[in-house]
Amino acid sequence: MTKLEKANNYIKENINKIHSRPDYHFTPEIGWLNDPNGFSYYNKNYHLFYQFYPYDIKWNDMHWGHAISKDLITWEYEKVAMSNDTISDANGCFSGSAIEKDGKLYLLYTGLINPNMGFRDNPNEIIQHQCLAHSEDGINFTKYEKNPVISQYDLPEGYKRADFRDPKVIEKDGIYYVVMVAKNKEGRGDILLYKSNDLVKWNFLSAVYKSKHEENMMLECPDIFSLDGKEVIIFSGMPCDESFEGKVGNTTEYLVGSLDFEKGVFQIESRGIVDYGHSFYAPQSMEDMLGNRITIGWMKKWVNKTIQVPEEFGWNGMMSLPRVLSLKDGTLIQKPVESISNYFVNKIVYKNTKVHKETFIHEVEGHRLYLKLDVVAQEADMFTLNLFGKEDKAVKLNFDLAKNSVTYNSLYDNMTEKYDLGGYVINRDKINLELFLDKYTIELFLNHGEKVFSFTNFTKYKGDKISFESNKGAEIVYLEKQDIIKR
Ligand code: FRU
Repeated sequence: MTKLEKANNYIKENINKIHSRPDYHFTPEIGWLNDPNGFSYYNKNYHLFYQFYPYDIKWNDMHWGHAISKDLITWEYEKVAMSNDTISDANGCFSGSAIEKDGKLYLLYTGLINPNMGFRDNPNEIIQHQCLAHSEDGINFTKYEKNPVISQYDLPEGYKRADFRDPKVIEKDGIYYVVMVAKNKEGRGDILLYKSNDLVKWNFLSAVYKSKHEENMMLECPDIFSLDGKEVIIFSGMPCDESFEGKVGNTTEYLVGSLDFEKGVFQIESRGIVDYGHSFYAPQSMEDMLGNRITIGWMKKWVNKTIQVPEEFGWNGMMSLPRVLSLKDGTLIQKPVESISNYFVNKIVYKNTKVHKETFIHEVEGHRLYLKLDVVAQEADMFTLNLFGKEDKAVKLNFDLAKNSVTYNSLYDNMTEKYDLGGYVINRDKINLELFLDKYTIELFLNHGEKVFSFTNFTKYKGDKISFESNKGAEIVYLEKQDIIKR
């Protein structure tokens, strides 16, 4: 039996043990999920691959799980696309991307070779290099027999071969470009750009972005795309080594600018944080059927390692709602994909509700729903949403309108996180909030997607109550609640 057959058989035999999935967010078919990979539109379907370990709810030998969809919300699992079954990817098929060429779907991914055999890793022994696979039907993949296509010897001098990964491939004017991360000789993350005519032979072009030494960051999962006449680069940052854990958070950032594809020079014009909550990582984007740029990220709670999906669920890890991207004056605007609204039912609208002490609104409750609010808060400095309420517990989102910060406070696990919006002013005349709740998650789009926050909390059986508070008077001029039900 091949490794792929083994994985597929294991899934078939154990799938009925899986339970307690979220209602409308993507989870692995079984076991462990991390980054989205190979996110693409091919053969009239959206394809989502993902970092996958079927046999346990913990990260281990990476496979590529696979699902397809017509609308980016309802997904059908496909056979496992790849397992670590060749000499070039013996210890894992790490993250990568997909591109269509001559009617075939190509995957470019990182092959991991780690001969440390479970002993404490010696990074000098580890190899990460870039491998190719292709498919005629988008389901069955064949790995290129001469992998890797970008090897450790294609790294410019000074970069470490042990951290050279996550190829994101694009095509521009008939030429293929790929961005990848690499660790430089000081142990910090850079983004490298390579170029190819055929996806097989690649040439190094430039380091398009170097993180600052004092940021103490390794970068992961870069993305690059054109948007509204600019070039956008997105990357996720993590501590470059253990000594910076706790000081460096796992944050996803964006850079907007222009890229000279000939010289490989990227001029940054503006930058920002993709998601303020510490539960959105390694996003990857693609162009949808209509030409929209859509991104999806791994909803991973980074702040506290003890908060996990309960083991008995049989799955661990989920994806964010897909988001449509655009630019407004150099700011990345993110909105949930339109198709989610096809799952909205039971619309309730309230107008002009005054809020001071804790206020409940009739029938505004639940744990899988969409909530839209326009709030005016001239007097109040605090506006608070209490979500998932039960007895004296709730998940509280507090907007400090004097300090322009947002605080997340979960009374279920005594977790408080405060997000300073870095000079951004929340407009008191019209605070626009759109929220998506799904059992374990909250995705908050503030002011029409100018700032976005993802939160996760895997406490079972949280409540359904929702209430509103402000320290002085505020008014919810418009409130809309819709349940989200997948039939
Ligand atoms: C990001 C990441 C990638 C790597 C993959 C391995 O979460 O560390 O850099 O390719 O996960 O699963």
